[in-house]
Amino acid sequence: MIWLHLLWFAILSIGNAEILVTAVNRLHSKKIHEPKLRHVRHLHDLLIPLWPVWLLVVIGCIRPGVLFNETSPTEVWLQQPLMIQAWMAICMAGFAGFSWSVIRYWIHRPARQQIEFKSTVVNYKRELGATITGEGPYSSLLNFPMNECFKVEFTERTFQLDRLPREWDGLTILHLTDLHFTGTIDLPFFEAVFERAAQLDYDIAVITGDILDSDELYDWLPRTLGQLNAPLGNYFILGNHDWGLDSDRIRQAICNLGWRNVAGTLQTLDIAGKRLAIGGSERPWMGCHPAFDAVPDNTFRLLLSHTPDNLSWARRQRVDLMLSGHNHGGQVVIPGIGPAYSPSVHGCRYAAGVFQSKSTLLFVGRGLSGKHPLRIGATPEVTRIILKATSSR
Ligand SMILES: [Fe+2]
Repeated sequence: MIWLHLLWFAILSIGNAEILVTAVNRLHSKKIHEPKLRHVRHLHDLLIPLWPVWLLVVIGCIRPGVLFNETSPTEVWLQQPLMIQAWMAICMAGFAGFSWSVIRYWIHRPARQQIEFKSTVVNYKRELGATITGEGPYSSLLNFPMNECFKVEFTERTFQLDRLPREWDGLTILHLTDLHFTGTIDLPFFEAVFERAAQLDYDIAVITGDILDSDELYDWLPRTLGQLNAPLGNYFILGNHDWGLDSDRIRQAICNLGWRNVAGTLQTLDIAGKRLAIGGSERPWMGCHPAFDAVPDNTFRLLLSHTPDNLSWARRQRVDLMLSGHNHGGQVVIPGIGPAYSPSVHGCRYAAGVFQSKSTLLFVGRGLSGKHPLRIGATPEVTRIILKATSSR
């Protein structure tokens, strides 16, 4: 009977953690400034361990002390005040949600449009040594065992898209996201990553937000973003961390380097006689969505959206390819379980990877860094996308 009670405590504890993590993930997807979110995180940090301790001490040892007598779980349930009964029921629902997210993690496969995947991992800690560790916030995390924040995966993904004009077969896009310049991971790391990225073969370069996390690092921009010069242009949007700073100043500084801001607007290109519309969305934090509905039907639609939460809007706008970041792959992936934290209304569903939603293909990059420099099982990522037309077109 004790084992049955311990199992029941485990289910209720996991369910409790799932509910609190779900609430934190959803709140971080909203237009709320960081200082307010910090209070929510502190509450979550307190309540996750408090509930299992309460279960073990109060129900397990004091009243009715199920670890020392033969009370059945049903009897224990009925003896509790209504509020506790209600929270137990919510925790059971949380456990069901947790089980489903683990199953979804195991069965997830990249969308069928990704027809080829290659990658190379570069360990910049090994290549550059101590020069890449700075003294910004949370620098103690850099020493955390198994931290992979300096192991950058340069991925190459080939997407075959139905609406891609045959004339563009082989068109390439360099995608970077979530740079999070805080000073904790120092400039030589980012310079080296951009230097390698600049040497790749790409037609278009894009960045999907969260570039600066400090007001004192504007001078890093020319030495990083300034290294890229795509033949068909460099395009960017900002993210929620840029929104927390002086976003107008960041935007201007990046535009001064020759990058084109597409937030809330569209840039139209003529490539080999076919039209490409590149739009950007920083919703829900800033501005408005780009007006894809004003674009002719035969125009290929590329959306840069900081959060993948704009996917259903993009699908309604018949966006062909949507590139996002924001979720950092969860930053820490628990072996066998998957990521837990992802600031999205969908939780960890779109933490990273390739997803199809009707005619829209979504790619969510894991990004280069984060405010908290800790990554386990979710290495930083730079992506070169190769677009292929279907043979029937
Ligand atoms: Fe981010």
